[in-house]
Amino acid sequence: MKAPTWNDKLSTQIESMDAQHRQVFEYFAKLWNQLEAGASQEEVIRSIQEIVVLEANHCREEEALMKEHQFPGYHTHKREHQQLFMEMRREFIGPISRGEMKATAAVLKQIAKRLVDHIVNEDRKYGLYINSRQNVATPTK
Ligand SMILES: [Fe+2]
Ligand SMILES: [Fe+2]
Repeated sequence: MKAPTWNDKLSTQIESMDAQHRQVFEYFAKLWNQLEAGASQEEVIRSIQEIVVLEANHCREEEALMKEHQFPGYHTHKREHQQLFMEMRREFIGPISRGEMKATAAVLKQIAKRLVDHIVNEDRKYGLYINSRQNVATPTK
């Protein structure tokens, strides 16, 4: 099983946000290597927590960007972020940290998939909106 990677299909067309998304995938790659090297569950849990912190900071920056550009889907997107973290806690982080679930490559793949789905279904919307507004020519006097 290969580590999930960022690819052009995940681009929001907003460079700063793509850079943050790519960073999340770099963390996943690191976590993958750890697993393959036979890291302990404690180490793996620490790395998962790093990803969660990174993702939480990223979501805050995304929300600030959407607000700055008065993106109409801001509130829906913000709720989707809350939903994302709630699901992550309930389905993965909670059970893994309580030792009820093992952090295997298959489980990490599911976590990454949830993030990929969010980028594809939600993040690309603000990218389209911001870019379409920026491409509107400002009238010259
Ligand atoms: Fe995002
Ligand atoms: Fe988002």
